[in-house]
Parts: sequence; structure tokens; C-alpha cells
Amino acid sequence: MTTILYGRPPLVFDPPGTATQTSPLIPGSTPLDSLADGTVDAAMVLAPPGVTERRHVLAHALRALRPGGRLDVMGLKDKGGSRLKKELQAFGLEVHESAKAHHRRCVAIRPEVVTGLDEAIAAGSLRLVEGLDAWSQPGIFAWDRIDTGSLLLAGNLPALKGAGADLGCGYGALSTVVLRSGAVTALKLIDLDGRAIEAARRNVADARASFEWADVRTMPAEGNLDFVVMNPPFHDGGAEDRALGQGFIRQAAAMLKRGGTLWMVANRHLPYEAELKAAFKRVTPLEEGGGYKIFEAVK
Ligand SMILES: C[S@@+](CC[C@H](N)C(=O)[O-])C[C@H]1O[C@@H](n2cnc3c(N)ncnc32)[C@H](O)[C@@H]1O
Repeated sequence: MTTILYGRPPLVFDPPGTATQTSPLIPGSTPLDSLADGTVDAAMVLAPPGVTERRHVLAHALRALRPGGRLDVMGLKDKGGSRLKKELQAFGLEVHESAKAHHRRCVAIRPEVVTGLDEAIAAGSLRLVEGLDAWSQPGIFAWDRIDTGSLLLAGNLPALKGAGADLGCGYGALSTVVLRSGAVTALKLIDLDGRAIEAARRNVADARASFEWADVRTMPAEGNLDFVVMNPPFHDGGAEDRALGQGFIRQAAAMLKRGGTLWMVANRHLPYEAELKAAFKRVTPLEEGGGYKIFEAVK
């Protein structure tokens, strides 16, 4: 019996313990698009909040399910859960809907014939985004634009030197700017989102770049880098989580050599100063604008 899981549904939904994890937000998981058609017996999906991303994931799960296979999907009511039933019916499914723990849950058996899968898969796939001139995919952070904070940081970066890292690199917007300096010898691009890493690989075609699909907070640190750039996340599963950015600051300090520099942008309301001062010898606030602040911190 082949069972797949997408994401980490709350335990009240009794997620299968032995399923193959397929969420791109869990490093090492199996990408949904690598599963062959009709080879899966059961799928449990914690639906992502974005419409295009969600329909893409559901269409892939249905493509991979065999006829007669069971699809079990749940989503927070105000994060797409209340739209699930209609979205699944549009694929030609007969849906049983229930409510539990602020989620809507939809269960369906995959019929022989389903409709609209190819369109939903194409709409949510990795593509070269017009106007952005970069590869990206719905679901990646700020997938079809350049984030205002990253733009502000890019405008404040000097020509960097030596070996560095871009923590939470997304599709690679900041790294592209960093690598314009010929004095940069190596750059590690790290992100928790496997889709972002795939996009960054295409956008940052540079022999000095290396890519890692990983959780920044738990990576081993060698204390040998000259610089780190980052626009750290401050949302985890939709809720604001300041500890996330604070964890990024501690990790940046651990990865840098003594005298190495962190360049960081953050939303102005986030209280990162104490964490920066605890981990770095000198912290200089550089610029504020558009709701963001930039820091240069020397270890
Ligand atoms: C604010 S975005 C910045 C993205 C990119 N640097 C840009 O400028 O477009 C933060 C990034 O951190 C990633 N992220 C979130 N949690 C992470 C974690 N624990 N480890 C590594 N990356 C993480 C997100 O996937 C997202 O791409």
C-alpha cells in the first residue's frame, strides 16, 4: 500500500505514520511531480493557503492516485479550507465534507475520470516569470515580484568579498546581486522550500554558487564565512513567529568567522536588536524605508 502525505496535518486528523512525505517545505521529501501516474493508494494533504498552489498540489495528488484511491484533504477554514469542496468538485470528484478543529476536511474516492488536472498542474508549475525575468513558482515567498525589503537590502550592499551565504535565499533575488561582485569567491544558497532551491538553481547559474535545501536553524556551522546576507522569514505556518528570525541571527553569527559581516533586512516592527547585540561585536542600523530596516553586524 503506497500512502503519501503532504505537510503535517494536526494530530486530530490521524496522519499516517509510515506515509511518504511530499511537501517541499520538509527537506528530503519526495517531490509530488516525481510520483508516477496512478501509483498511490491513499493521499492525505494539508492544503496550502494559496489558490493556485493548492489546486496544483491537489491536481498532482489526484494524478498520482490510482482510480479507487482515497484522497483526504484538510485546510483551516479561513486559509482555503472553506473553498476545498468546490475546488475538488471542479475536478469531477464526489466529496464528503466535515468540520474539525477549525479545519474543513474533504474526503473523496478518485473516480476513473477526473478533469482539469493538466491545467491546474501547469498553472502552479515552475516557470520563467515574465517581467521578473526569473524562474519561480506559486508558493515560493513573493514568487512573482521582488520583495521590497530585499530590494532595500540589495541597494545597501557594498561589493562583497570572499565566501558567504544567503540564508532563506528564496528564488535567488539577493544572491543574484551579491554575485555581481567579482571578489565573491563562493556563495551558499540555503532555503527550507525545495521549490525555491530548484528555482534558484536556474536563476543563479554561477560556478561560485552552491545550493542547499535545509532548515537554516539546524545546519552545522563552521564559523568560516566572510559574509552572510539575509531577509529572514517571520511567519511560520501563517502566524508571526519572531523566534524564526532570532534563530537565523544566531545561525548567521555561528557561520561567520571573527570579523565577518552580516547584512540583514527586517520589518521595522520586529525586535531583533537585542539578539543582534548578543551575537555580534558591532551592530550598525543603516537605513529605514518602506516599513523595513537594514543592519550591518560585525562578529
Ligand atoms: C522573507 S523570505 C526572503 C526570500 C529571498 N531572500 C528574497 O529576497 O526573495 C524568507 C525565506 O526564508 C525561507 N525559510 C523560512 N523558514 C526557513 C528555515 N527554517 N530555514 C531556511 N529557510 C527558511 C522561506 O522559504 C523564504 O524563502
